Amino acid sequence: MKKISFLFAAMLLAHTAVNAQTSTPDPLQVRSWAAGCANCHGTNGRAEPGNESLAGANKDEMVKKMLDFKAGRKPATIMHQLSKGYTDAQIVAIAGYFAAQKK
Ligand code: HEC
Repeated sequence: MKKISFLFAAMLLAHTAVNAQTSTPDPLQVRSWAAGCANCHGTNGRAEPGNESLAGANKDEMVKKMLDFKAGRKPATIMHQLSKGYTDAQIVAIAGYFAAQKK
């Protein structure tokens, strides 16, 4: 009986650890989300001329623009659709990733 309640406690602990991970995403996970922006915004956010670079941009402004795209407040040809594919927390994490890149 003792063994079973120990196992149960261990499972509860493991579950808490997983939850903690989802609230602060793994940096590798964030990097792979950000890689989805590379086709248009360049590797690590350094775009070719003609596209917006995201590297070294202001995090709060990026978050605001993404949330505005998502809500349809900011006119767009494509970003209004793309931004809908991410939760607000993912957007904050991705913006943090690009803000930390060298321009
Ligand atoms: C298919 C190409 C494409 C992809 C992929 C893409 N974007 Fe964009 N992005 C654009 C275009 C085009 C614009 C200009 C607004 C528009 O027409 O939608 C833009 C604009 C933006 C802007 C506003 C730039 C400014 O300063 O006005 C931000 C921020 C942005 N994108 C972030 C992202 C992020 C973050 C991702 C990845 C999750 C991403 N984009 C993926 C094409 C893309």
